[in-house]
Amino acid sequence: MQEFSLGTRIFFGEGALERLRRVEDKRVLIVTDKFMNQMGVPQRVAAFLTNCAVSVFDGVVPDPPVEVVTAGVEAFRDCGAQIVIAVGGGSTIDAAKAIREVAKQVLDADTDKMECFAIPTTSGTGSEVTDYAVITNREQGLKYPLHSKALRPMVAILDPELTVSAPPSVTADTGMDVLTHALEAYVSTGYNDFSDAMCEKAVSLVFRFLPLAVADGNDLLAREKMHNASCMAGLAFNSAGLGVNHGLAHAIGGKLHIAHGRINAILLPKVLAYNADLTTVHKGEYCIAARKYQRMAKVLDLPAPNVRLGVTNLIHEVEKLNRKIGIPATLKAQGVDLARVKELKEGLVAAALADATTATNPRSVEAAHVEKILTEIMG
Ligand SMILES: NC(=O)c1ccc[n+]([C@@H]2O[C@H](COP(=O)([O-])OP(=O)(O)OC[C@H]3O[C@@H](n4cnc5c(N)ncnc54)[C@H](O)[C@@H]3O)[C@@H](O)[C@H]2O)c1
Ligand SMILES: [Fe+2]
Repeated sequence: MQEFSLGTRIFFGEGALERLRRVEDKRVLIVTDKFMNQMGVPQRVAAFLTNCAVSVFDGVVPDPPVEVVTAGVEAFRDCGAQIVIAVGGGSTIDAAKAIREVAKQVLDADTDKMECFAIPTTSGTGSEVTDYAVITNREQGLKYPLHSKALRPMVAILDPELTVSAPPSVTADTGMDVLTHALEAYVSTGYNDFSDAMCEKAVSLVFRFLPLAVADGNDLLAREKMHNASCMAGLAFNSAGLGVNHGLAHAIGGKLHIAHGRINAILLPKVLAYNADLTTVHKGEYCIAARKYQRMAKVLDLPAPNVRLGVTNLIHEVEKLNRKIGIPATLKAQGVDLARVKELKEGLVAAALADATTATNPRSVEAAHVEKILTEIMG
């Protein structure tokens, strides 16, 4: 038995913030980061609330560590929050989800009744609809994807206006996170008809609209389509799972502090080739992942008369998109100290293998495979 549930009510399109007018007479904790606060985004959100006492916690940083969650729980307690509203990128939404969950445990707060709204300002993680929150342990240099249905926000507000301020590099990185979610969920061990439908639409939208959103951040149609794609890819992987691309991205991100979407993007062509496993034919057929990549190539109108060409053209298209939006092909081109990567290699491989997302990779993954992928992206 599998599950595909739409536990989050999704309000989308220009003017979606209007949904907040229905929040009345509540103590609200807005969770955000310093940059968003300086830009007045929490105030813009608060203006839609009706007769609410609003507190702002702006302590979130990218790849939020445990300490941010602890500080957020204190802010939660201090204001006696009845609603948590996360406004920001995936880091902010993840932090808010963890704050609410920890508050439930340590403050004995009745969070089941308490609404959690997620308002993404990047089109990337899909965190507004998922049961995941990625929290970093800085001491160990590890990123942990927490997983529980209780983490899923009740309401997601996808207002593309909030993403126009994202600079081209953030737009590109987060957009490639969307593509990675969709392409991993499409072939993961948990894929199903429902997640496939979301993946196919999300991938089409990314190839069409991500270059436009990167080229012109004020292109509201491109922003809206990327916001929708991000959410759809989130729904897909929440049901189907991800794979070793994310397992390695978490491992590398925890140690080398490369933006999550960027490291996913660098890994993606290599992971696609690994999963397609074109050197192995079993009973005259390539593996399911390879055949599904061929199908995705067809969805994108790429030449795919056979599996080999479909896979190859899909990989080339991902590489082409990376180049077009300014994402480097290797860690070296990203400016990473390769001696440090070599030094960390063993730990990175172990962390990738232990990461919960690796468990649903379509092709079984062993240390030697992860090491090979790592070597390939070093450059
Ligand atoms: N929960 C999930 O399901 C899930 C899935 C994938 C990734 N993640 C996690 O989410 C985090 C990454 O989130 P992200 O990629 O959205 O980036 P982010 O939230 O870390 O934000 C990146 C930067 O962009 C800035 N920013 C955000 N919105 C902006 C805007 N509209 N205008 C200008 N600047 C803006 C932020 O201030 C920050 O400096 C990672 O920790 C990753 O592991 C979670
Ligand atoms: Fe991701």
